[in-house]
Amino acid sequence: MKCYLTYLIGLTLLFINIINAKGIKVPPKEEEEPINTNDKFYLIYINNPYGEYKIYSDENIQKREESQVFVENLVDEIQSLINKNINTYKNPEKLIEIKEEVSSTLKTRKRDLKNLNDYGLVYPISSVKDKVVLYAYLSDELSKKINKDIENIYGIFPNKASTSLQYVPYNKEEILAETGWKDLKVRENTDFHLSLISQGKYNRRLGKKYDNNYYYPSSSGKDINLVILDSSFNFNYTEFSNTHERTIKCAANVENGFASTEKIDYYCGKVTRLYHGETVSDVAAGLLHGTANLANVYGVSMAVNNEGEINDSDILAGIQFIYENLIEPHKTVINLSMSGITYEQSEFYHQYGKIIDAITEKGGIVVAAAGNSGYNLGNGGYGGYGGSYYSYPCQFKNVICIGGIDNEDEKNKYNIYVSHEDSNYGDGVDFYAPFLVKSDIMIEGKKTRILHQGTSFSSPIVAGMIATIMSEHPEIQFTKNKIYEILKENGQGLEVSHLYYQGRKGIMANNGKRIIYSDEEEEEEKKE
Ligand SMILES: *[C@@H]1O[C@H](CO)[C@@H](O)[C@H](O)[C@H]1NC(C)=O
Ligand SMILES: *[C@@H]1O[C@H](CO)[C@@H](O)[C@H](O)[C@H]1NC(C)=O
Ligand SMILES: *[C@@H]1O[C@H](CO)[C@@H](O)[C@H](O)[C@H]1NC(C)=O
Repeated sequence: MKCYLTYLIGLTLLFINIINAKGIKVPPKEEEEPINTNDKFYLIYINNPYGEYKIYSDENIQKREESQVFVENLVDEIQSLINKNINTYKNPEKLIEIKEEVSSTLKTRKRDLKNLNDYGLVYPISSVKDKVVLYAYLSDELSKKINKDIENIYGIFPNKASTSLQYVPYNKEEILAETGWKDLKVRENTDFHLSLISQGKYNRRLGKKYDNNYYYPSSSGKDINLVILDSSFNFNYTEFSNTHERTIKCAANVENGFASTEKIDYYCGKVTRLYHGETVSDVAAGLLHGTANLANVYGVSMAVNNEGEINDSDILAGIQFIYENLIEPHKTVINLSMSGITYEQSEFYHQYGKIIDAITEKGGIVVAAAGNSGYNLGNGGYGGYGGSYYSYPCQFKNVICIGGIDNEDEKNKYNIYVSHEDSNYGDGVDFYAPFLVKSDIMIEGKKTRILHQGTSFSSPIVAGMIATIMSEHPEIQFTKNKIYEILKENGQGLEVSHLYYQGRKGIMANNGKRIIYSDEEEEEEKKE
């Protein structure tokens, strides 16, 4: 019996552009503050019959033109109005403070400096063609007076902030209150596979603002060990460069039924065209693409051929090595990179299940991929085969089994909370995570952006997520059951449906942050 790495389409050397559909942020309608109740800054809009006045050019190279004279006279006029009406200000002392601040801002301004030093409470800020705008600090009364008395004025308005930077306006306090995290980290505008697991269910539509941030606890898997049994690894590049904060290494290389610890450090296993372990480790724990970028990483490589097959002997040897050497109780998440199908419960199957049980008893938490056959993993069997087929290790009772949702961008604009047609599904699947991931891995010495898909990648996303949950609470002795309960709780209302079988419902994996800062459906309808 052979096992297969659960990859889907090999490697696609493709750069996927996540659609960054951020709309314009409409600032919330301000409480209409009764205008002119207090002293404040105003923008005074004036028609300038003499045409454009250069605000930033040097006096020495610009002859005094009519326009300049006009603007300077205007400034003089308003300043003298200010001087005459100091008693109308609610807080006249503030004028001195403002003058000081303004003159220090204007110090580098070559022209008009003399003039403006004298005043400082009114000066031009913009002029184009026949329009000029002055900026002035005025009392209510004075603003009304100026509006009435100054010739050519066509508007006077309190200064306000009507423009804002285009970012998703998340609220840190709100997130900490919901998640109970000690502190928040945000990776802005990052991979789809990351943003999806740190927000609730939304309906994604083209042209709508989607929150591409990944929100996670700042502990980010710190002091939790992620053990990855897979094909091959390379940890010597940027995704794993934060070795001052965590341990990252190859723990063993398995061949001929034996796990050897000779001659391994940042590299192990024979590199295959699948680049499977490389991608899996990046998605679990890479600096940019991983869910837990402070978790310790221990790679255990196994002999894999180009079809992704692994001998039973190496699976047992690898998992045995992990059991004996790598389980720090309640601090270890093991991600198993293979899935196999059997119709009889063979001795291999029993032995495999027993080691997993022993690992669980020791306090390790095992996560595995559901597999990519598109089968119904029912109660101990594949639906289409009379219930007599088993998928391992996913269906072992002590394994958290992860399927994939169809998060392919273009295809699923309307609902991505559907299991991918190639992902196994059904009662045997515990949770779902993105099927499609983006990663940076080393290929022939060059860092290369790849898109990979398969439940192989859904599984490490969740393995990393579990590490972040555990790192937040060093005081809790996490067990498989406890983690299962937490993920179930986090997944409330995050239902995953099946493309064809209405009754087949699953649960989306979520790290606890479910507030949605993406645009929601109602807004779309309002617009339509
Ligand atoms: C890591 O890669 C660099 C080149 O990028 C190389 O010089 C260095 O020797 C490598 N480190 C190890 C431990 O192999
Ligand atoms: C499985 O074992 C056989 C016999 O030792 C070996 O020839 C073969 O290459 C191994 N297959 C893999 C995928 O390692
Ligand atoms: C996680 O397990 C899946 C399948 O069970 C595997 O394909 C993948 O390589 C593993 N990832 C890690 C991080 O071990």
